[in-house]
Amino acid sequence: MRRSRIAGVGRAVPEKVLSNFDLEKIVETSDAWITDRSGIKERRILADDLCTSDLAAEAGRKALAQAELEPKDIDMIIVGTVTPDMPMPATATFVQHKLGAPRCPAFDISAACAGFIYGLSIADSFVGRGACERVLVVGVEILSRSLDWTDRTTCVLFGDGAGAAVVTASDDPERGIIDTLIASDGEQACHLEIPGGGTKHPATHDTVEKKLHFVHMNGRQIFTQAVRNMSSASSEILERNGLGPDDVNTVFAHQANIRILESVSQRTRIPMERFFNNIARYGNTSSASIPIAMSEAIEQDRVAKGDLFLLTALGAGVSWGSALVRW
Ligand code: ACO
Repeated sequence: MRRSRIAGVGRAVPEKVLSNFDLEKIVETSDAWITDRSGIKERRILADDLCTSDLAAEAGRKALAQAELEPKDIDMIIVGTVTPDMPMPATATFVQHKLGAPRCPAFDISAACAGFIYGLSIADSFVGRGACERVLVVGVEILSRSLDWTDRTTCVLFGDGAGAAVVTASDDPERGIIDTLIASDGEQACHLEIPGGGTKHPATHDTVEKKLHFVHMNGRQIFTQAVRNMSSASSEILERNGLGPDDVNTVFAHQANIRILESVSQRTRIPMERFFNNIARYGNTSSASIPIAMSEAIEQDRVAKGDLFLLTALGAGVSWGSALVRW
């Protein structure tokens, strides 16, 4: 297997900012409660005339520019999203068209907040065995359209955004994607769902009235699952590569909640200072949060050649994963 690497990263976030103070006017909540329980201060909301593939294509274009590649160079497009343009066809095909990319495979994966790591893992496999040369992996979520804006237990946590990475073959055997680990536990699926609109509860007036097309979440169960599985996957991937907490320069953990990151830091014994954190500005952007964070860290010169990155996320399913990248 040849080694793959991330050749470019890009992000696209909507202009419109919704602050905790704005939310105080919509639901019974407070800036103090949201900040204390989640670390979130504001989030971005996509304009009504745009959809998931618009933001995904913009992030993809920026990732390609950083990799000094053009859309014509891509030979696979993977989009991690649970908020697609429509149930069919795949959002990735719209992204392909909007980018003007060639007739390559373009498909979505549904791993919720772990979608980017799942996509990275698939891209790494295809590039590693020589089946692809340049794969565009996008994490994109427009959760504002799947939230019940009268439910304060969910609507304060999420935001819209897109991040993308271009995965190519690495010419340096020491650098690139070192390993990926992905897993799911369907027994926990009931804790975080959009129950309506599929074959179990096809969309009817009744399902809409019961708000089944919105996110339903058991926050405490998800919190426990996130801490447990992000920590164990991170420790396992380090250990099986002969590495330890001290070797990690930067952790790009899914930006769900600052308290989840603090608990993962304690369990993995990786100091909190090494966890990149932009949750205050974007909230939980699900599959987009890791590539958005990576793109900001690169832009702010907070990473150096040879640094070891640990990526980790958990989302609905529950599905989770970790990845190690030598930058
Ligand atoms: N504003 C004010 N009060 C609120 C709000 C709100 N937005 N939401 C809930 N409350 C109230 C509750 O009604 C409850 O009141 P009560 O005691 O009178 O019944 C009280 O606050 C405590 O509620 P809990 O649910 O027990 O609060 P908790 O400390 O567990 O925090 C939270 C809730 C932030 C959702 C937490 O469980 C969490 O972070 N879970 C992880 C969820 C998550 O990140 N999901 C994202 C998708 S999955 C992922 O990305 C990992």
